[in-house]
Amino acid sequence: MYEQASHSLLNEILIELKPEIGNLRLRHFYTRLGANFYAIHSLFHLLYGGRSDFKEQMVSLIETLAQRYIERAPALRKSDLAREKDYNWFLSQKWVGMALYCDRFADDLKGLRANLPYLQELGINMLHIMPMLDCPPEHSDGGYAVRDFYRIDPRFGTTEDVEALAATLKKRDMLLVLDVVVNHTSNEHEWAQRARQGDKKYQDYFFVFDDRETPDIFEETMPEIFPLIAPGNFTWDAEMGKWVMTVFHSYQWDLNYRNPAVLIEMIDIILYWANQGADILRLDAVAFLWKKMGSVCQNEREAHLLLQLMKDCCQVTAPGVLFIAEAIVAPSEISKYFGEDAINAKECEIAYNATLMALLWDAVATKNAALLNQGIKSHPIKLERATWLNYVRCHDDIGLGFDDHDVRLAGYDPAMHRRFLIDYFTGRFPGSPARGLPFGENPKTGDARISGSLASLVGLEAALESQDAAAIDDAIKTIVLLHGVILSFGGIPLLYYGDAIGALNSLEYLADSSKAADNRWMNRSNFDWNKAKKRHQTGTVEQRIFSALKKLIVLRKETTAFADMDNRQLLDVDTPNLLVFSRVDPSNSRNRVLVVANFNVEAQTLPSDALRSNGFLQPEAMKDLCTGERIEVSNDMVALPPLSCLWLTD
Ligand code: GLC
Ligand code: GLC
Repeated sequence: MYEQASHSLLNEILIELKPEIGNLRLRHFYTRLGANFYAIHSLFHLLYGGRSDFKEQMVSLIETLAQRYIERAPALRKSDLAREKDYNWFLSQKWVGMALYCDRFADDLKGLRANLPYLQELGINMLHIMPMLDCPPEHSDGGYAVRDFYRIDPRFGTTEDVEALAATLKKRDMLLVLDVVVNHTSNEHEWAQRARQGDKKYQDYFFVFDDRETPDIFEETMPEIFPLIAPGNFTWDAEMGKWVMTVFHSYQWDLNYRNPAVLIEMIDIILYWANQGADILRLDAVAFLWKKMGSVCQNEREAHLLLQLMKDCCQVTAPGVLFIAEAIVAPSEISKYFGEDAINAKECEIAYNATLMALLWDAVATKNAALLNQGIKSHPIKLERATWLNYVRCHDDIGLGFDDHDVRLAGYDPAMHRRFLIDYFTGRFPGSPARGLPFGENPKTGDARISGSLASLVGLEAALESQDAAAIDDAIKTIVLLHGVILSFGGIPLLYYGDAIGALNSLEYLADSSKAADNRWMNRSNFDWNKAKKRHQTGTVEQRIFSALKKLIVLRKETTAFADMDNRQLLDVDTPNLLVFSRVDPSNSRNRVLVVANFNVEAQTLPSDALRSNGFLQPEAMKDLCTGERIEVSNDMVALPPLSCLWLTD
């Protein structure tokens, strides 16, 4: 949009830019800056307009964008241009992701590069490497307590190794996803150190208070994220003699985005990693970016404005780079991280689908899809040019973030139902084979989340111990079923590194005092390469899971109806054990798939009328993509095997 005031400011800024910047040939930079400047200026003004140094800060922001553009390698600039033309590239069904720890999967970045064939064998072409930046070893929060945003932990290698990996991935048509921890730093970060030494400039990077007066007011409305391992939201720092806001661990200091210098530093960091070859950046804990007294300090409007600014700035310098929002919040809030009232994403193009993840776990425990169907029905419509990251497990706990209204509509009492789920997954519920642990139990509120590996949570660990072949079958079927849904739902599926070989809970973390209190580590085990080898040995658990997932991945990539073109329709089938939805390729409606997931341990039937009225089964035949077999219609019923996800085509 052309708006006089902002364009005259842009002209002034361009004149004031450092001469070495002004003299360079920056055609694409200037056109993108021109296109985005109105938005950048308005957002920056909304947040920081009241400051006397507003213009100086604007100049500093634009200089940062220009500087990082100048450094951007020609190959990356070329990819930016290609992606601008092919802007829907990330909605394709061809992408299948995996999240892994560099050191736990391979020793270091070079080892990771050497092990790419394993990922390619499975069909993975989007690689999220968990954070690798320098952190204090004893207080790292698994990489999310960063001491230096520009330095790779030497245990993993160097920045050059990241660049080399990025180049290798590009050659293999694989995407690289890296984290940017935007909400906080380690208490050993240089900014925190300087703040401690009394430097006011850096104290203003954080939220520091002389006494408890303000912290106490904040505490009245702020929930606790880690009530057991890190209670409260503020920590006393003896050296500084002040309280500091620490929403996560006591050693993670929350950044103060009321200070524009913090935003500019973070944009610089984002662009730095974009320039090292990341295709996608995962922005950690974005719901927490803005703190406001009297609020829960999550999902504030200003947090969205900050993300819009980050996106607009990234589009000026590195427009081919996408953002993933890690916002594990209420269903009605998550989709706002794409940006509201827009067609293409204004904030993050991709968001973790924590709602679907939690709903899938509900279906596992209840063995029906009542809440799953209800939750999907209520799932807010997302933007056209944005997509979900669909996952079953990740490195964190499973939060039971359902909407209470949906829980009631599914026929449960919300508090009792959550209690049941926790009891089920921690194996306390009679007959439950799950081996999870409660995480973040809050005695004050009764809330809890769940830790554990996929395989152990679906009963594989218990079944292997008792050598119960039928129970082993059920656990494997459940693993495949859950992946069948995330691979067909619409969005980018994100697998977790041990899950394709049935990695069980790991208890190694208990021996490490810096990890023992945080049971999320039970699902962050060292990848067992001996176990992985068994994927080639017919009949092993590893082979059964790996080969089933591998096949589903191949089929997903071939099936154009699985691209995310907002082309999913939920079918009301009146059978609570089933989740049924169709996916239709909008460019050729003959390419369509009916996904039927049965969460029950018993075979189910689906009235063929329900399918006919939705245009399927005309003529009578359908086949399952996975087995290639025709499905039977007898007595006007379609039979569905226990714990299965069928992908049916005409
Ligand atoms: C990515 C993908 C490719 C896509 C391209 C657009 O590098 O590999 O499939 O078309 O981006 O630039
Ligand atoms: C994110 C990470 C989690 C971490 C937290 C604080 O939620 O996924 O592992 O503890 O942010 O950085």
